[in-house]
Amino acid sequence: MRYAFAKRVRHLQSSAVRDILKVVGKGNVISFAGGMPDDELFPLDGVREAFENTFATGKKPLQYIETEGYLPLREVLVERMGRKGITNYDASEILLTTGSQQAIDLFSRVMFNKGDIILTENPTYLAALQVFESYEANIIPVDSDEDGMLADDLERKIKKYKPKCIYVVPTFSNPAGKVWSMERRRHLIQLAHKYHVMIFEDDPYGDIQFNMEETYTPIAALDDGTHVLYTSTFSKTVVPALRTGWIAGPHQIIRIMSQAKQANDLHSNSLSQQALYHMCQDFDLDGHIEKLRTVYQSRMEIMLEELEKADLPGLSYVVPKGGMFFWIQLDERIDTSELLNVAVKKGVAFVPGAPFYVGKDVQKNALRLNFTHATPEKLRKGMGLLTSVIKEHYLEV
Ligand SMILES: Cc1ncc(COP(=O)(O)O)c(C=O)c1O
Repeated sequence: MRYAFAKRVRHLQSSAVRDILKVVGKGNVISFAGGMPDDELFPLDGVREAFENTFATGKKPLQYIETEGYLPLREVLVERMGRKGITNYDASEILLTTGSQQAIDLFSRVMFNKGDIILTENPTYLAALQVFESYEANIIPVDSDEDGMLADDLERKIKKYKPKCIYVVPTFSNPAGKVWSMERRRHLIQLAHKYHVMIFEDDPYGDIQFNMEETYTPIAALDDGTHVLYTSTFSKTVVPALRTGWIAGPHQIIRIMSQAKQANDLHSNSLSQQALYHMCQDFDLDGHIEKLRTVYQSRMEIMLEELEKADLPGLSYVVPKGGMFFWIQLDERIDTSELLNVAVKKGVAFVPGAPFYVGKDVQKNALRLNFTHATPEKLRKGMGLLTSVIKEHYLEV
C-alpha cells in the first residue's frame, strides 16, 4: 500500500544525524549530544512528595481541567515571571503547555500561513525550525554575533521581508550558548514596535545562569505586553518528564492558542501541573536551581579546561555564561557530520552544527557539546576521546 501523506510530512523525515544519535542512547558512548539535565540532580524526593501532596486532596486532581491549565500554577508563574521583570501578564494570559515545544507549535499553528516570514538567529534551535517548516513558513536568518542579532541586518530584513514574527533564544541559547547584550535586546523591542512585528522569546535556560551579578532582562520585560510572546519550561530546572512549559503573551493570542490547544489535546497533563504547583510552594525550588547553577558551572569549567588543553588548530568558541551548551568551531577542513561517525565508533557523541542553520550559510565545522549530562569523570574522558579523534583522523597530527 502506498500511503498518501500530506505534503507537510516531508519536513518530518528522520535525519542521518538523528539515526546515529539514536544508537548512541543505547550504547556505551559518552554523549555530549542531547540537551539533557543530569539525572543524578533530579529532585526525586521533591517530585515524589509533590505527587503525594497532590493525591492527599482526594480524587479531584484526577479530573479534566480547563485548557489553559491548573490556575494555581499559572498564578505562581505570574509571581515567578514578575521576579524577572515580566509583569504585563496575569494568570489569564498564561497557557500551560506540554513543554515549551508545544508552545512553539501552537503559536505557529495560529499565526503562520504558508509563506509567512519568520526571522531567526542563525544557527538556532533545531526543533523550532522543524515546527516552522511544518507550517510551511519561510524562515529568513538574520546575521548575528556573540551579542545577538546585528542591528543593521535585522532592520534591513524587517523592512525587506515584512516578517510576521522574530524567533529568538536570547539567554544562553541553543545551540550557540550565547547571551544577548542589553543593547541588542532593547534594539529588538524598539524595532518590533516600530514595524509591528511579534517577537517570540524562547527562554528555557534563563534560570541556569552562572554569574548572578549580571542581569539579563528578558525581552518580554522590556515590552508593554503587546509585542512579545514569552515561553519557558520546567524541563531544565525540575524534570523534563513532567512535560510542563508555559507561554505568556497578549490576551488575544493566548485565547486563540488556547482554542487551538483544545482541539489538539484538551489540556496538558494536569497531575504534572498540580505536582509542580506543590513543588513551587512546598519544595525549595530556588535552592534547587541554585544547586544546578553551581554544578553545571563547574562542569562547563571542566569542559573549558579540556578544550584549552586540547590545543586544536582553528578551534574557537565563546565561553557560556549559563545554559547547557558549548558551541565550537573546528578547523575549516573538518565536516563535523563526518566526524560524528568516527567519534561514535571511538565512544563519544555530539551534535554536528549543520542542522541548526537556516539557508546556505552553514558552518560545517561547527558542533554543539552539552556539558550538563555527563559526570565530571565522563566529561574529561569524553573530551579526551573527541580530541584524539579530531587529531588522528582530521588533522593528521
Ligand atoms: C531553545 C529550546 N526551546 C524549547 C525547548 C523545548 O523544551 P521542552 O519542550 O522540554 O519544554 C528546548 C529543549 O531543549 C530548547 O532548547
